[in-house]
Amino acid sequence: MKVKNNIILALDVMNMKEATEICEKLEKDLDTIKIGYPLTLAEGLEAVSEIKETFNFKVICDYKVADIPATNSKICNQTFKAGADAIICHGFVGQDSVQACADEAGEFNAEVFLLTEMSHPGAKLFLQENADAIAKMGVDMGIKNYVAPATRINRLKEIREIVGKDAFIISPGVGKQGGDVKETLTYANAAIIGRSIYESDDSQKALKDFISLI
Ligand code: XMP
Repeated sequence: MKVKNNIILALDVMNMKEATEICEKLEKDLDTIKIGYPLTLAEGLEAVSEIKETFNFKVICDYKVADIPATNSKICNQTFKAGADAIICHGFVGQDSVQACADEAGEFNAEVFLLTEMSHPGAKLFLQENADAIAKMGVDMGIKNYVAPATRINRLKEIREIVGKDAFIISPGVGKQGGDVKETLTYANAAIIGRSIYESDDSQKALKDFISLI
């Protein structure tokens, strides 16, 4: 995946009106949007289709898919049918569940991002100790895309070392959660940024300010 300006907007607003207004303001400087449960639960999976039809964006659905393989397949099928270019799935559920997502992505010529370690403090409790093994599992499976935290640069660096230089890493946690965009992009291919942009009084300027730091 190629990401313009190496920034992905996390579009966690709660209605399509706001989502569309933000996208209109930022479409010159962005080409990749991440849609998660907030907007999807508020407006339905049609939110993904509408963004795809209205804008020239790639859409990554952050559904952190974490179920048995049969259910993962169905979740991915619906997401890709709605027009998503990629989906984020959890790795802790194991190889068969991740493989189900990868197989479904293959049917749609879409992509899977494997979530290794999350960016919030609570991830240290259970997920961190298994994150390297999750990343190694992804490498063994031939997964090309990963999610790793901008909030713990040492962990992002370690996960980069495991997945290798050719893997594509997207990294949440820049801005509101404390991560630094420039440092993050030393190891990640793109930074995911949400509230620091869409909650700003001037979202265009907020985005441009991040771009100027890169
Ligand atoms: P903010 O507002 O904190 O938004 O800039 C960050 C976005 O990223 C999501 N998020 C994650 N997604 N793995 C993921 O797949 C993570 O570790 C992770 N941490 C944050 C968050 O839901 C929001 O959309």
